Amino acid sequence: MSDNDHQTITRVTCTAPVNIAVIKYWGKRDEDLILPINSSLSVTLHQDQLKTTTTIACSRSFREDRIWLNGKEEDISHPRLQSCLREIRRLACKRRNTDNPTSEVISVSYKVHICSENNFPTAAGLASSASGYACLVYTLSQLFGVEGELSAVARQGSGSACRSLYGGFVQWKLGERSDGKDSIAEQVEPESYWPEVRVLILVVSAEQKSVASTSGMHTSVETSHLLKCRADVVVPGRMEQMIGAIRQRNFAVFGDLTMKDSNQFHATCLDTYPPIFYLNDISRKIISLVHRYNQHYGETRVAYTFDAGPNAVIYTLQEHLPEFLEVVRHFFPPEVNGGEFLRGLPVNLTLLSEELKREIKMEPTPKGIHYIISTKAGPGPCTVEDPNLHLLDAGGLPKKSA
Ligand code: DP6
Repeated sequence: MSDNDHQTITRVTCTAPVNIAVIKYWGKRDEDLILPINSSLSVTLHQDQLKTTTTIACSRSFREDRIWLNGKEEDISHPRLQSCLREIRRLACKRRNTDNPTSEVISVSYKVHICSENNFPTAAGLASSASGYACLVYTLSQLFGVEGELSAVARQGSGSACRSLYGGFVQWKLGERSDGKDSIAEQVEPESYWPEVRVLILVVSAEQKSVASTSGMHTSVETSHLLKCRADVVVPGRMEQMIGAIRQRNFAVFGDLTMKDSNQFHATCLDTYPPIFYLNDISRKIISLVHRYNQHYGETRVAYTFDAGPNAVIYTLQEHLPEFLEVVRHFFPPEVNGGEFLRGLPVNLTLLSEELKREIKMEPTPKGIHYIISTKAGPGPCTVEDPNLHLLDAGGLPKKSA
């Protein structure tokens, strides 16, 4: 090995998307392997609006694994990070021994420097662990040349992360095995299958959530009978119906199931002892608004879903988006006039009929919604080819602090 080899630093940069579940994952049957008590299904959001970017550098000269998240060095010994690193290195070893025993690729014993950033503020209360762990695992796999079942590795970082390894409409199959090998994500349909679907994220609160999902779902498994019934009896049927609705592009069925499943998830939170409250008054006003809007038309044109926090994610079809956005603007008048209220994909302006405003019959709540991110379904993780976009410099340290 020459001095040059010793100095060589290999860098790989990838991006990964956020996903929002329409059939929720809540509860584990194995907390170490992160095996769920029910299957779940999500829509992968477009990376133009929301994504994690991760650069990983690798060199024989690095003395330890290190990680920087959103500009700050963090503790690499976190068990979930360690699980992902260990699993990818194991897969890389296995592949090399069987496929290509003499290959001179990057040694799995080399230490890595990891640098990861989101293009959305963590403070917005949007889930970042899914895109974060998906990006970590995907980037590691590209670096070490690992192919195959990556979702089972990302799952061990954060359950919902396994679904971010695919674009479009994605299910995470519960699986039966105790080693978790069959608890994996699968694409149901790509984003191009139903291009009319649109997504609005109504950012209600920028505060940190009260109870983290990991500990919240632990208490729910311990105490909620409703959760057990949901996992055993309700979700299996809903998964089938939801997959059918997507395949038939049936928005009414898709929307109704999405809302019912969000409501049932929050009901299990209330059934948890002590109870967990993720929704606030604004969330509940958004729920009423959506139902009144749909009622006005006598059909489900818009659907809401809420994760472990008060922000609403709205699913609708392109044709209904301009009007519904005006409805939101009317009933939640923004602080500033327009401006930064709507971010992301542009939406055509439209006028609201007086009749619609009258029929919705709600008092406007000024400043109830901070801002809205407009987006749609998008693809899975990607490799960034432009070397200028690496987050780590040629020495393997974060560019911003270098
Ligand atoms: C409400 O995946 O964040 O967003 O596996 O403990 O990391 P851990 O939990 P996490 O839980 C997500 C819960 C949810 C529903 C969902 O995304 O399906």
